[in-house]
This record gives sequence, structure tokens and C-alpha cells, in this order.
Amino acid sequence: MVDDVERILISTEKLRERIGEMGRQITEDYAGKEILMIGVLRGAVIFMADLARSIKVPVAIDFMAVSSYGMGTASSGVVRILKDLDESVEGKHVLVVEDIIDSGLTLNYLLDNIKSRKPASIRMCTLLNKPERRKVDVHIDYNGFTIPDDFVIGYGLDYAEKYRNLPFIGVLKPEVYQR
Ligand code: PRP
Repeated sequence: MVDDVERILISTEKLRERIGEMGRQITEDYAGKEILMIGVLRGAVIFMADLARSIKVPVAIDFMAVSSYGMGTASSGVVRILKDLDESVEGKHVLVVEDIIDSGLTLNYLLDNIKSRKPASIRMCTLLNKPERRKVDVHIDYNGFTIPDDFVIGYGLDYAEKYRNLPFIGVLKPEVYQR
């Protein structure tokens, strides 16, 4: 698995530090409130698990699964709900958690969809942001790292369902996806 990594973009240590900072900021911003974190399956799971543990106010969690990329590498623009939330968001302070914002299409759809269910507030948090690939403008409240348009894997991000368990963010060797 590690042999397929061209270089490490964000080390385990940098991830830990930055997620700690994000947790402190979110804790401050939500003082006296409870958060409902909505994780977007499957990539966000690993980031969300660490982020939740760095937040000191009460955090409830729920998940949505949507399809955007399929098994390929380019965004199709088609967003479909594969798994909906288990609980109502009405009156809750929702924090949507993503691993990466690329074209912005997934997030754009999700935010509109969740807003229509009347949460008390809604903000979004992403570990990685690739602004070069943006197709629709989306507002990001908490951004871990802005990265260049490389094919990144690890810490939740996959290529064909592989590499999600790497403990760092790496750049995939082009020969792997050009095979
Ligand atoms: C990724 C990522 C976001 C979306 C971002 O998910 O987790 O949900 O793509 O891309 P966009 O900004 O272009 O919409 P993916 O469809 O790869 O599924 P996964 O999380 O299960 O890997």
C-alpha cells in the first residue's frame, strides 16, 4: 500500500495538530450548545472520529451516504442519497463533516437538502479543500488544509476503496490509476 504513495502531503503529526486546533475553535464557537455532526460516508469517517474527540461540548453523530464519484476519479455532478439520516435535524445545531471539497457539488446539494429540514443552524467542516476543482461556490466554515489538485489518498480517502486506512494524506503515484 505504502509503495503506491508518491509522497506524503500531510503527516500524521500535522493532521493531529490541525484537528486539535479545529476542535478548540469549534468548542469555542459552540460554547453552551450541543452539536449534531453529520458525517458524509464514507471518506469523512476517520476525520470525524478524531474531530469529535477534540471537541469539548456534547456531540451527537449521524451519517448520510451520497454517490458522486462511483469508482472513478472525476466528479459526475450527479448526487444521489444512498443512506439518509436516522434522526430529525429540526432545531439542532448541525455541523456537516466532509473529508474533501472538490467540485463542491456534493456539499452544495447536502447543505440545501439539510437546510430544508429546519435545523437551528448549519455549518460545514472539511479536512481538505481543493479550490482549483470548484464548479459551484460553497461556503466552508472550518477548513483543515487547502491543497493542490493532486490525487490524494489516506486518512479516509480512497482510490477504488483502497488506502483509506493510511494514517497520513499521501499523493497517489499516477501509474496506479493509469493502470
Ligand atoms: C468524496 C468526498 C466528498 C465528495 C467531494 O466522496 O468524500 O463527499 O467526494 O467531491 P465534490 O466536492 O466534487 O462533490 P466520494 O464520492 O469519493 O465517496 P467516499 O467518501 O465514499 O470515498
